[in-house]
Amino acid sequence: MSKRTRIPHGEGSTTHEPTLDDQTRTRAISLESQTKWLELLSTSNISRVIVVGGSGRLGSLLSHLLTRAGIEVGILDSAPCEALPGTNFTQCDLGRSDPIPPDLLAGADAVVHLAALHGAHLLAGYPRRDFWKVNVRGTERVLTAARAAGVSRAIVASSTSVYGSGSAQGPAYVLNEETALQPEDVYDFTKLASEELLRKFGEQGGSGVALRFGRFFFPSHLDYHLRKLSTGLDALDACQAIVRAITTRASDPFSAYCIASDLPLDVEQRERLGHGVAAVLAESFPQVVKAAELRGYELPTRVGKSVDTSKARTLLGYAPERALDWAAEMWLEGEPPTRPRLPAQRWLDAAV
Ligand SMILES: NC(=O)c1ccc[n+]([C@@H]2O[C@H](COP(=O)([O-])OP(=O)(O)OC[C@H]3O[C@@H](n4cnc5c(N)ncnc54)[C@H](O)[C@@H]3O)[C@@H](O)[C@H]2O)c1
Repeated sequence: MSKRTRIPHGEGSTTHEPTLDDQTRTRAISLESQTKWLELLSTSNISRVIVVGGSGRLGSLLSHLLTRAGIEVGILDSAPCEALPGTNFTQCDLGRSDPIPPDLLAGADAVVHLAALHGAHLLAGYPRRDFWKVNVRGTERVLTAARAAGVSRAIVASSTSVYGSGSAQGPAYVLNEETALQPEDVYDFTKLASEELLRKFGEQGGSGVALRFGRFFFPSHLDYHLRKLSTGLDALDACQAIVRAITTRASDPFSAYCIASDLPLDVEQRERLGHGVAAVLAESFPQVVKAAELRGYELPTRVGKSVDTSKARTLLGYAPERALDWAAEMWLEGEPPTRPRLPAQRWLDAAV
């Protein structure tokens, strides 16, 4: 059974808005300056967005940011979310036959579908059939409900893991939308199947955008930033990509974009990351090498893959703000931010 809770904008704010201490307030202000792209929403005609998987790591941060931009957010998830003013929460398990309430999607300008079983569930031994049920059948249910409610814009989270593991030696593989797909596990296959459902949604009169996200969750802050040399993605850059996908008028019914917090390197430099990271950084981003040395952080010797976000930069206006050069500035200024954590407010505090 699906269960709905309404958390009104103004009314809920005294109860649910977290109290900000001075430190958090400073962080919140700095976040404002780092999320200029949220202003895109105020100049668009977007007023209501559904975030499926809105209780999760990315979904909770996105929902928080959208509500700050004045967007009404409908969250659908099987797990409860931290209460946010300006959101509706609907509890619904996409892997079961819980109905998606039609009025949840009615009048929405876009649906952002982030709910999925992923790497952690693979490691925990979830059966393959659960991946197909939640990730594929779940996506089909969300898109069918969107179509029935007249919501024409859908953004679905895919993954750069659909390109496989990267090179073991020699040049790094450069991952862009033309790179050959090499799905390796059930997660990858279900992500590609979801993309196909989204393509169909686009062909039937909608507009589907698949965002192939790099990895945005790591065991330590150092990992979180250093992986940005390969497929690493800052959660705020992921939110930026989603906001740009929501607000950009699509020229094609279906598009896929690679999204990471990549440094602006050319293809030849990206390939050379497979021979040695330090040499490439020394020629274009010497401050990163210096900051890592100062902090005693060891840069990886090489990486086997590098995500090239040129297509998203060109067509969506995506401009990652938290690539490794941003992290290096933080390293020079003081201790780096800690790894973002759930729930949403802590995620947000830690992300700035
Ligand atoms: N975390 C990463 O590094 C990463 C990398 C690439 C792509 N992605 C994709 O981005 C999306 C968001 O990832 P995340 O790290 O925020 O994941 P998450 O696990 O933190 O959030 C996923 C949310 O989906 C919900 N969910 C799971 N099964 C559900 C079901 N049966 N019905 C309804 N809701 C269900 C969960 O309760 C959770 O709140 C996912 O689609 C993931 O595959 C994540």
